[in-house]
Amino acid sequence: EKGNYRHFMQKEIFEQPTVVAQTLSSYLRRSDNSVALPQFDFDIGSVDRVTIVACGTSFYAGMVAKYWLEQFARVPVDIDVASEFRYRDPVLKPGGLALFISQSGETADTLAALRHCKENGQIIGAVVNVPTSSMAREADLLLPTHAGPEIGVASTKAFTCQLAVLAALAAHMAVRKGLMSREEEHDVVEHLLEAPACMNAALDHDDDIAAMAHLIAPARDVLYLGRGPDYPLALEGALKLKEISYIHAEGYASGEMKHGPIALIDDLVPVIVLAPSGPLFEKTVSNMEEVRARGGKIVLISDAEGLALAGEGCIATIEMPRVHPLIAPLVYAIPVQLLAYHTACVKGTDVDQPRNLAKSVTVE
Ligand code: M6R
Repeated sequence: EKGNYRHFMQKEIFEQPTVVAQTLSSYLRRSDNSVALPQFDFDIGSVDRVTIVACGTSFYAGMVAKYWLEQFARVPVDIDVASEFRYRDPVLKPGGLALFISQSGETADTLAALRHCKENGQIIGAVVNVPTSSMAREADLLLPTHAGPEIGVASTKAFTCQLAVLAALAAHMAVRKGLMSREEEHDVVEHLLEAPACMNAALDHDDDIAAMAHLIAPARDVLYLGRGPDYPLALEGALKLKEISYIHAEGYASGEMKHGPIALIDDLVPVIVLAPSGPLFEKTVSNMEEVRARGGKIVLISDAEGLALAGEGCIATIEMPRVHPLIAPLVYAIPVQLLAYHTACVKGTDVDQPRNLAKSVTVE
């Protein structure tokens, strides 16, 4: 079943361009370059508040979606991990959209949060990968990801497919609210359709990243930095590394470094910086320079332009294709996944079945 791959995780990382294209094809209509959601007897344009609930990697997809929903659909978004959400007595106004994101559709805390929201008058949306799951059955608006079965405990392809669906949802909501013109919608569709090819270009750096893993494997701690929608990617990169290589890692919003974590910096802590060219590039790079000035060893992930401007003096760089900011999280997911994967391989850990973890967390 693994074909030519050593691990399911590796196979699933490489499947991403295909499964993201598959997922997008059910949300983007090529005939008129529009974004379409499954039929649903409620006007999504009238939603004035979104609550996102998920766990782990699916939660990080939700964090990215918050940026998109606010930017495009101008709708306030509340987001929390399911285990916190359930017990904090959240304010749920009738008619709000509660969105649950889950690969398995069975995560106990997320499912309990879904039922709580249903009892409290929320419209239930679910972005799930297993179409027969409890969450899929109980949702009013089912937004499936078409990632296919994900076997590796570390989630990879489910994440990028979730992002694809959530970008389409944000754009569609913006259209229905009259906040996105036909032209802007066309642009969004064009950019999303560029994602699979850009993800392929990212995968081409597999060998460089495998070589780089030897720099990361000896570390005890690793930091990941990102800004805007790439901040959740920093959290995701850190989670992947922790899960499968057992190296302690933290993701931070790059602007938070000087509020504490910069005290950790010395030449033993690699700092992975996610900085695609775009409106947030300069700010992220100036945070990176602060780290470098304190002896930090930096791995910069950016495009050719970004690396030309800021790559000097880094211990390593990973070149990504130049992408539109909308699809950067889908593309930059690949190097963080590959870096965790190869680091785990160098360390000889059990990549597909990391210790203490289960694929589907059905206990609270
Ligand atoms: O099936 P779900 O998406 O609800 O699972 C949520 C988390 O348990 C899951 O993402 C977990 O964090 C993964 N092991 C991350 O790689």
